[in-house]
Amino acid sequence: MRTIDDLGDLRGKRVLVRSDLNVPLDGTTITDDGRLVASAPTLKKLSEAGARVVVVAHLGRPKGEPDPQYSLQPVVGRLSELVGREVAFATDTVGESAQATVDGLGEGDIALLENLRFNAGETSKDVAERGAFAGQLAQFADAYVSDGFGVVHRAQASVHEIAQQLPSAAGGLVQAEVEVAQRLTTDPERPYAVVLGGAKVSDKLGVIDNLIKTADRLLIGGGMVFTFLKAQGHEVGRSLLEADQVETCKGYLEQAREKGVEIVLPTDVVAATEFSAEADHEVVAADAIPADRMGLDIGPESARLFAEKLADCRTVFWNGPMGAFEMEPYAAGTKAVAQALADITKDGALTVVGGGDSAAAVRQLGFADEDFGHISTGGGASLEYLEGKELPGLTVLA
Ligand code: 3PG
Repeated sequence: MRTIDDLGDLRGKRVLVRSDLNVPLDGTTITDDGRLVASAPTLKKLSEAGARVVVVAHLGRPKGEPDPQYSLQPVVGRLSELVGREVAFATDTVGESAQATVDGLGEGDIALLENLRFNAGETSKDVAERGAFAGQLAQFADAYVSDGFGVVHRAQASVHEIAQQLPSAAGGLVQAEVEVAQRLTTDPERPYAVVLGGAKVSDKLGVIDNLIKTADRLLIGGGMVFTFLKAQGHEVGRSLLEADQVETCKGYLEQAREKGVEIVLPTDVVAATEFSAEADHEVVAADAIPADRMGLDIGPESARLFAEKLADCRTVFWNGPMGAFEMEPYAAGTKAVAQALADITKDGALTVVGGGDSAAAVRQLGFADEDFGHISTGGGASLEYLEGKELPGLTVLA
């Protein structure tokens, strides 16, 4: 993979950087700035090298036209603090404001352009449309740096096509993320466990397929676990259930048995009458969830079981919370997994927390980034890497 050093002397050059600044916002308040913190070092490095730095990024999923609720304006202040200089902001992506802002950059200056996805060409299914939009972006730059690991699995103009139009290289964040992903996929130290959570099993099918071949243990929690419990023949009440995936989950349980891969499912769950912190809730056995309740966290016995199954692991990848952790009564399972990872990290195991949501979860629960070996900025991207898929944003940098 080409790196920034391969781009030669960048003093005075305009460098377009694709970052992933897709942070969670409450109104205009950033609730987790992890992706900004992770993106800042590459921008600083380029600025210190005397480049005129043009940052492009997306926020949320606007539909190809300007939509104020998805403006990147709210990230400018925090980004400026993190890079240690004022970041200029253009109120469009390839229009007059962007042109004037880029023209106004001096050596070492940094500008952020408005949300890429306000332009239909960014995410178009039509390669020619994406190519044309990439061409508009390319006019602003002499070189391109890909540093948004969270989007390298997307075949989008600012990730893929643009790298074909300008001298291009991976930034430090993409390099660091890929190094960790390679450690997970190339002869990981064993036992190797993967903890999967989050709402939907259908989002994780590819990765489960692959992990049944490579991991020693698969621990499953979160909303997706109820489809597995159903596959084991249990009733799950009003819990999240993907009825069309029950057969697939049965197949995974069978395959895992054949291959000697241990699938660890919760033995108890916290079951509530409603999806609410105030709802009446109780701990019930995983095979006896009452018909009028929904499982919102793994139970205390399962939390101990999961911690035990992680205690001797030398490599762990974790994606997706164990329950509705944002509500205090359902946070204990996610906390227990985070604590188990923090404990083995101290003993030198490689622990990787994958994805914006999981990263935000551990920070919200009071853990520090240093408690883990690596906190990945890319959820979908790291899962697709583990699936063994080719990622368009990486192959184009090869
Ligand atoms: C993410 O949040 O995982 C990345 O920023 C990618 O966003 P997307 O799933 O909307 O492409």
